[in-house]
Amino acid sequence: MSHPKVIANWKMNGSKEAIQIWLEGFANEINPTAQKECLFCPPVIYLETAKTVIRDKDLNLSLGAQNLDIDSLHSQTGAVSASMLKDVGCEFVIIGHSERRTLFNEDNLLLRTKVISALEGNLAVVFCVGETEKEDSTSKDLIRKQLEALRDFCKPKIVIAYEPLWAIGTGEIPSGSYLNDMHSFIKDELKYILDKEQDFSVYYGGSINAENANDLMNLDCVDGLLVGGASLDSSSFVQIINKIYS
Ligand code: PGA
Repeated sequence: MSHPKVIANWKMNGSKEAIQIWLEGFANEINPTAQKECLFCPPVIYLETAKTVIRDKDLNLSLGAQNLDIDSLHSQTGAVSASMLKDVGCEFVIIGHSERRTLFNEDNLLLRTKVISALEGNLAVVFCVGETEKEDSTSKDLIRKQLEALRDFCKPKIVIAYEPLWAIGTGEIPSGSYLNDMHSFIKDELKYILDKEQDFSVYYGGSINAENANDLMNLDCVDGLLVGGASLDSSSFVQIINKIYS
C-alpha cells in the first residue's frame, strides 16, 4: 500500500455538516489523480459520516484516524481498537502526535504498543516525532529516543511525520536546510535502529499553508505533508493540493 502524500489532520474540529461541505468542495475541485494523494483524518466520531460521503461521491481519497487504543485482554471503556477503525473504513492511523504525547501523556512504550496494534490490525501508520524547542542542541537526541519506539519494525506500512512543536500552529516553519538536516538524520537513524537499508518516507508538519506547501514539497528531503489548521477549510486545502499537483 502506498501512503498518500498530503494528510489533513482535523484534530478536535468539525461536525457532520462540515465534513459534508468539505468533501463536496474536495470532490468539485480536485481531480481523481490528485485525490489519491490525500488522506483525510477527521475526529473518530465522524469517520462513518466521512466514509459514507466518500463512497457516495466515489472519491479517491483515503481515510485515517488520529489515534487508536491498544488491543488488550481487559475491558477498556471508551476505547477504540484498530479493528473498529478498519470497520469504518480507515486504512491509516496517526500515532505519536505531539498533542497525544503531551496532553495525554503517551510515552514511547505505549506508542510502540499502539504501532503493534495498528500493524496487526492492518492499518498503516503515520508516526510523528519532533523536538519541543527551537535551536535546541538536544533535539536530535530526543528524536532518536522517539524513533526507538519503532525498533525492529519494517518499512512498508510506516511513514514518519517530522513535526517540531515550535512550528505547530505558530505560523513559523523551519528553513529548508534545517529540514534537510533533520529529515536526513531521521532516515539515517531509522536505518541504524532497524539495521536495514530501508529508506523511510519522512513527511513534514507544522504551519503548512497554501503559500509554503509547494516549496516544502519541492525540498528533496520532504516526502509528504501533514496539514493541521490549513486543512480545515476546504478552499485552503484545495489550494494546497492544486499548487502541488497542478
Ligand atoms: P498545524 O498543525 O498545521 O496547524 O501547524 C499540524 C499538526 O499538528 O499536525
